[in-house]
Amino acid sequence: MAEEFRLDPWASAVRLEYEKLFRYFGIKPFRELLPRVTEVLGEPLHLMRRGVIFGHRDFDSVLEAYRSGERVALVTGFMPSGRFHFGHKMVADQIIYYQKLGFEIFIVIADAEAYAVRKLDRRKVIETGLYEYVANLIALGLEKNRHTHIYFQTNYETPYYRLIQMFSRKITMAEMEAIYGDLEPGKVMAALTQAADILHPQLDYFGGFKHVLVPVGADQDPHIRLARDIADRFENELGLRRPASTYHRFQSGLDGNKMSSSRPDYTIFLSDPIDVAVRKLKNALTGGRATVEEQRRLGGEPEKCTVYEFYVYHLVRDDKKLARIYQECRGGRLLCGPDKQYAAELLAKFLEEHQRKLEKAKDRVLEYVEPPSF
Ligand code: TRP
Repeated sequence: MAEEFRLDPWASAVRLEYEKLFRYFGIKPFRELLPRVTEVLGEPLHLMRRGVIFGHRDFDSVLEAYRSGERVALVTGFMPSGRFHFGHKMVADQIIYYQKLGFEIFIVIADAEAYAVRKLDRRKVIETGLYEYVANLIALGLEKNRHTHIYFQTNYETPYYRLIQMFSRKITMAEMEAIYGDLEPGKVMAALTQAADILHPQLDYFGGFKHVLVPVGADQDPHIRLARDIADRFENELGLRRPASTYHRFQSGLDGNKMSSSRPDYTIFLSDPIDVAVRKLKNALTGGRATVEEQRRLGGEPEKCTVYEFYVYHLVRDDKKLARIYQECRGGRLLCGPDKQYAAELLAKFLEEHQRKLEKAKDRVLEYVEPPSF
């Protein structure tokens, strides 16, 4: 590697240069697999069709496994460090898509990581895990069945913990520092725990070998690389094989920077009161020009518009309708005022329905997961 380039999965504000992920880390473009996705899985998820899911490792082998009827599982996780927002919904949409296809589902509530790395209060983390993350997943349509498992990292009564301890033997500090940079014990633990999250579904206890897919934000790739290295080293002893992964782009905050629960004015939470959510959206950065006259003449720039991004990621599922909005904006016929009004209506409609389900879902979280007692 000529210049140094490292991803920090714990950085709070990453601006990723997605190109570099292909160049330095061998992540492959997802787009090339779209025709195969259509053949094997059927209609690709909107996030796939629109390039939001942009990269993968070995996703082709997951498709092959699915096609030939082998067992496939999805593992992904959430750090319960703040309220559930539309960036998280993107992960939920993927989980539910694969659940419908019959994948076995493992969802990690990363409370150990939130405690050790984000230094959050335990009680708060457990509450947030239950009533923000699990509740929103249920409200979005996650089903409860015998192929779906949700667990807290500190409360999983299975041989899962044995993996964390065993993994520690076959990885050196130098290797970990090459992946993560400076490390403290909490981060070492969090990284080995995440490797166990990713690899444990293959143990005999969970029914033995299966292909594992991990859909994550691109900042999580260091964890994927570590888990793949560890799998290689435990192939003989435990029969582990490398997981596959897909990577999605982050949704922007409404000011064009990162969407994050620590930036509540620029982030819409799924439990925001509707007037609050609409107000945030109406203040959003768009691709509009300085004056109406200029916008009619030059057209808007949807590529720079956080409202358009909301359509792409969440609010407009119909590709033709999305293309129409794009053209109208580009052509200077659709101005930001009326466009925001339209987006606000879609958002309000979605939230109204969702929040009705969310209230009900809150009563059901304990059917899905057992929280730690402290
Ligand atoms: N580290 C992830 C985050 O910051 C959460 C996580 C924990 C996770 N274990 C995982 C993600 C396993 C994918 C797979 O959100």
